[in-house]
Amino acid sequence: MKGEIIKISVISMACMLAVILFASCESPSVGRWTSYSGDRDVERRVDSVLALMTLEEKIGQMTQFSANWSITGPVMSDDFKPYLEKGLVGSIFNATSVEGVRKMQEVAVEKTRLGIPILFGQDVIHGYKTIFPIPLAEACSWDLEMMRRTAEIAAIEAASDGINWTFAPMVDIARDARWGRVMEGAGEDPYLGSRIAEARVIGFQGGADGKALGELHTLLATGKHLAAYGAAESGRDYNTAELSEHTLRNVYLPPYEAAAKAGVGTFMASFNETNGVPATADRWLMTDILRGEWGFTGFVVSDYTGINELVPHGIAEDEKHAAELAVNAGIDMDMTGATFIKYLKKSVEEGKVSEETIDNATRRILEMKFLLGLFDDPYRYLDEERAKQNTMTPEFMKTARKAVAASVVLLKNDNRLLPITKESGKTVALIGPLMNDSINLNGEWAGLGDRKKSVPILEGISEKYKESAVKLLYAEGSSITETTPGKIAEAVAAARRADVVIAAMGEDFNWSGEAAVRTDIRLPEPQRELLKALKATGKPIVLVILSGRPLDLSWEDENMDAILQAWFPGTQTGHGVADVIAGDYNPSARLVMSFPRNVGQIPIYYNQKNTGRPVDLSNEATDYKSNYLDNSITPLYPFGYGLSYTTFSISSVSADKSSIRTTGDKMVVTANVQNTGDIEGELVIQLYVRDLVGSVTRPVKELKGFQKIALNAGENKQVSFELRSEDLAFYGIDGKKRTEPGNFMLWVAQSSADNSHKISFSADTPSNKSQQVE
Ligand code: BGC
Repeated sequence: MKGEIIKISVISMACMLAVILFASCESPSVGRWTSYSGDRDVERRVDSVLALMTLEEKIGQMTQFSANWSITGPVMSDDFKPYLEKGLVGSIFNATSVEGVRKMQEVAVEKTRLGIPILFGQDVIHGYKTIFPIPLAEACSWDLEMMRRTAEIAAIEAASDGINWTFAPMVDIARDARWGRVMEGAGEDPYLGSRIAEARVIGFQGGADGKALGELHTLLATGKHLAAYGAAESGRDYNTAELSEHTLRNVYLPPYEAAAKAGVGTFMASFNETNGVPATADRWLMTDILRGEWGFTGFVVSDYTGINELVPHGIAEDEKHAAELAVNAGIDMDMTGATFIKYLKKSVEEGKVSEETIDNATRRILEMKFLLGLFDDPYRYLDEERAKQNTMTPEFMKTARKAVAASVVLLKNDNRLLPITKESGKTVALIGPLMNDSINLNGEWAGLGDRKKSVPILEGISEKYKESAVKLLYAEGSSITETTPGKIAEAVAAARRADVVIAAMGEDFNWSGEAAVRTDIRLPEPQRELLKALKATGKPIVLVILSGRPLDLSWEDENMDAILQAWFPGTQTGHGVADVIAGDYNPSARLVMSFPRNVGQIPIYYNQKNTGRPVDLSNEATDYKSNYLDNSITPLYPFGYGLSYTTFSISSVSADKSSIRTTGDKMVVTANVQNTGDIEGELVIQLYVRDLVGSVTRPVKELKGFQKIALNAGENKQVSFELRSEDLAFYGIDGKKRTEPGNFMLWVAQSSADNSHKISFSADTPSNKSQQVE
């Protein structure tokens, strides 16, 4: 096969020349191929393959099937094997194990006319076999290097098992805790979301620039779901998003753009429509913005049957029309829907889709296969020995354990109930449906992680305190959704014999993730009943919450003594949680999504607008203000919030200048930070900015920088942030991104609700006219 490709290279070089000439005089469009790697040799090889292909074979490359057809969507009736045998499949996902991948690769490489290798995909979201905390949890660590590393470990494990491509990171901004997919992302903030998107792309794709594809430990990554899937109305999955271009560009698009700039190789179109156009058919989004504005040169895959769904969306007459809309919008590969392979040949013959569009989609896909080295050796990732060596290694376990501890957010800790040290000699009653559970711990989208291997909290705590002065008692008390009177009585009896209760409660893992939306986000009734009974004993209670979303914890906040938000922490749950409880790890995580006081406050997020009738938070009940009659407008726990076993103070916030130019300038903001407690700890120090007057209204606060710093007891450190003119830019009234001149406020803070340290500055242009960001 290789020889054949070389033979036609002269012809393909001529084609290549034509492509280059054409490319240089046209703005990027779906009809033009701009290579991802920019590597002339790869481009030449791509064209050499393309020159051998029939139209149908090209469309075959644009077709992806699922190895088992029914993982996340409707079960398809057709079998993909006949397509595979005819060389009409570009990619397969959900093939598990080296052996499974090898079998399918053999058919593609050895039994088809051109022997083009298959690209194997998988949802490697927060680990492959070693499962790390759900992405929302990890984001709470604000530790970019850790997130890069866990993505890298996931890539090492998956690539060692023959997988080439992950459908991650999910970078959808989420402001609605009802939506189950909040667990897959990085929360509500565009700035933090963008930094995390970069870290994860680089982690998966390798190298310092995220472009080490082809090294055996890397995976091709996917920025998903483009776009604004998280803005689905009322949190209902797959639902309509109705957004102004202003909000789309200023809030929702930045993390996708950051992923593109970090070199992500592929994007996935989202299921939802935005402003009347389903993403899968949105040429403005998929081509004008993605390729034209952001310069993305990889390929775009639809979501699972996303093209077929253009019919029920009511934008395509039938699946053939849907395929035409999708490919002409800029979708290069059809995930499982089989619309391209069934209809596009006819559409090309009818002139509804150009051959050039097909060629360029095929080129983009072939290029990734070349970069991954699959043309040189289609079996290069397939090595059972390597898979064994690279799976759940002691080093991966250690990283996972640290990731658990770094993701647990301490929400409340009255009377310093936590930590419970080994020396305390306390008797501790361990209670709750998630105390001795392993099945739920990995959360949703947990790859091939073996749920039975995840360490229950009971096991982690038992190991932690063995041979210590602490005594442990255990009673389940209730299941996640049901209780029996006897069980509650047993738990209450254990609590009575104890000095302190630790209750592990929360959601079933199936209640978050895709198609898992809740309208009541409180703990289920039986668990609340159990908590009330425990509370009646008068014993202090530590509540450990496992959930895939922020819950309404209003009752718990009033009635529990300490609360740890542990999310779904993965393989090392028990050990990581025990490290925090015993004080071997001082909690350092900070929330990345606001916790509402009740579901009626949703959507709730810190970077809201002021309105014309802002509320005075010291007197919320004033009439005719933007408030509620029956609750505060503030969240229960704000974005950026989280406690530590020590305390910190911020002082001496200053900037090196009081005015910054609107382009090409920067200012340095410094602050003094002190650990004012008696043990060492880490603080996420946050920089927020408010643009006081804009051509369009601006949020009351926006995160523009953060640092996670470790301080010994009593230690002082000076931290500095660099704020560049471009950091202040936004899409204004004319739809252009620029920094507008005017006055700003700036906070160095411990959370988005911390207003204690602020300074003001201005942005100026000599002519006092705003400049467009280049
Ligand atoms: C999800 C995607 C996922 C795909 C493949 C879809 O239902 O929306 O996020 O990558 O399935 O499993």
